[in-house]
Amino acid sequence: PRSPSSGPHVQETKVTRLCKTQKVMTVNGQFPGPTLEVNNGDSLVMFFVKMRMHGVRQITTAWADGPEFITQCPIRPGGSYTYRFMISGQEGTLWWHAHSSWVRATVYGALVIRPKVGDSYPFTKPKRDSVVVLGEWWNANPLDVIREAMRTGGAPNVSDAYTINGQPGDLYNCSTKDTVIVPVDSGETNLIRVINAALNQQLFFSIANHKLTVVGADASYVKPFTTSVLMLGPGQTTDVLIKADQPPARYYIAARAYASAQGAPFDNTTTTAILEYKTAPCPAKGVSSKPVMPSLPAFNDTNTATAFSTSFRSPGKTLVPTKIDDSLFITAGLGLNPCPPTASASTCQAPNRTRFTASMNNVSFVLPSNFSLLQAHHHGVPGVFTTDFPAKPPVTFDYTGNVSRSLWTPTRGTKVYKLKYGAKVQIVIQGTSIFTAENHPIHLHGYDFYIVAEGFGNFNPATDTSKFNLVDPPLRNTVSLPVNGWAVIRFVADNPGTWIMHCHLDVHIGWGLATVLLVENGVGELATLQQPPADLPAIPTQDQTKQA
Ligand code: C2O
Repeated sequence: PRSPSSGPHVQETKVTRLCKTQKVMTVNGQFPGPTLEVNNGDSLVMFFVKMRMHGVRQITTAWADGPEFITQCPIRPGGSYTYRFMISGQEGTLWWHAHSSWVRATVYGALVIRPKVGDSYPFTKPKRDSVVVLGEWWNANPLDVIREAMRTGGAPNVSDAYTINGQPGDLYNCSTKDTVIVPVDSGETNLIRVINAALNQQLFFSIANHKLTVVGADASYVKPFTTSVLMLGPGQTTDVLIKADQPPARYYIAARAYASAQGAPFDNTTTTAILEYKTAPCPAKGVSSKPVMPSLPAFNDTNTATAFSTSFRSPGKTLVPTKIDDSLFITAGLGLNPCPPTASASTCQAPNRTRFTASMNNVSFVLPSNFSLLQAHHHGVPGVFTTDFPAKPPVTFDYTGNVSRSLWTPTRGTKVYKLKYGAKVQIVIQGTSIFTAENHPIHLHGYDFYIVAEGFGNFNPATDTSKFNLVDPPLRNTVSLPVNGWAVIRFVADNPGTWIMHCHLDVHIGWGLATVLLVENGVGELATLQQPPADLPAIPTQDQTKQA
């Protein structure tokens, strides 16, 4: 382990974008943070403050998962915590980010996982390998943006720019000279790892004049398919091969919103980087020319988004469970809390003088405030959570339209759902539309899951079950729930711990769109949660609890 003073640390740093300088949180002053490069099979010991390895399975090492109050208490100012874990069985691209309020708006970076030492890619070895991280930028401190939204009860301001590797690019004020250049070798095949690290927005992505051959997603390989547009929900990654077979020139790489929610405000701008052909080796020279712009789908082009997200297949035999032990039906949606009559209008700025909320199965998830769930579970501390998260919603209804009023105002609670070790689990995730239909990229910690089906409207077991793909469904860690629709995921509960499942639009997490799956220990070392590391941020003592 590196010593704390030499390890990465989170600090406030002045960053200038769109002609304005902001103080934001960064890792070591870098925005975005550094790319971590590892191999499948590596065992990592990392000193990192406020970190989460998004998508790393953390088998038996839930202690290193990262989310505050779920698997650890927050690291105290000046304190440190060393995350120890293995990368096993995952290859491709993941990322890391802070998991505390909106800190991740600026505290994030790529995690590149190459094949095991001695192994090769299941495709032609790319000449170059580049990371393209999509993000969002506010002309304000993002922590102030969410604080203000929580105060008013309304929606937070939308971002002022999207970014590629932290830079808005050519189409924004004061951004041209810093536009990111992604080099490719003329005539060669290049791998581009696309990550959606945006806080609240699903994004379309395209590169002018180039076909994208999708070979991986969320650190699993997929059966290659070719497309001109990607759509990524926050949390998702997509690895593409591009053949640099066009006339040597410069081509725009561009991303902009896929905003299918009806009437919800969104940032309608476009971020760009430049794909630049390198010719004549030694030294390779970039070609300068005016870049060509790709045509991106309209912001509400659901057909293109759906065609893309349903193109994913696993490349070989899968381990998708065919028999199910535990079947859940979980609704995911927004809600509105009425305001007490005495509340001031300025704190009730959701529609009809209410406050926004969100829930799964009508339970709005509340983080514990002085304990983490994993510590409470491991040490048997009562009173931190209850195990009565319901396996289905309290009432069934037409989730896509006329939603029962009883679902508008969820209950609040720290409720988890218990799973036996080894259980074969199916979850139908059904979006609800309370006053507007919304997107929800649903992410589960600790697991990759098979997406066996997705569709629009209300999930209907009688007709939809027959459409399940139990042959070659894709393995992902985040599923973009279709607006006014549903998705069905399956996995084996083979990783003990407390795993949060949440919408990866951060504004929705704050409103409670989350729940926790508590997977019990099984028998044997590989089925048992390890002992907590000695430097795990301690559970506060009684005294500290009183002060807090
Ligand atoms: Cu990428 Cu719970 O997060």
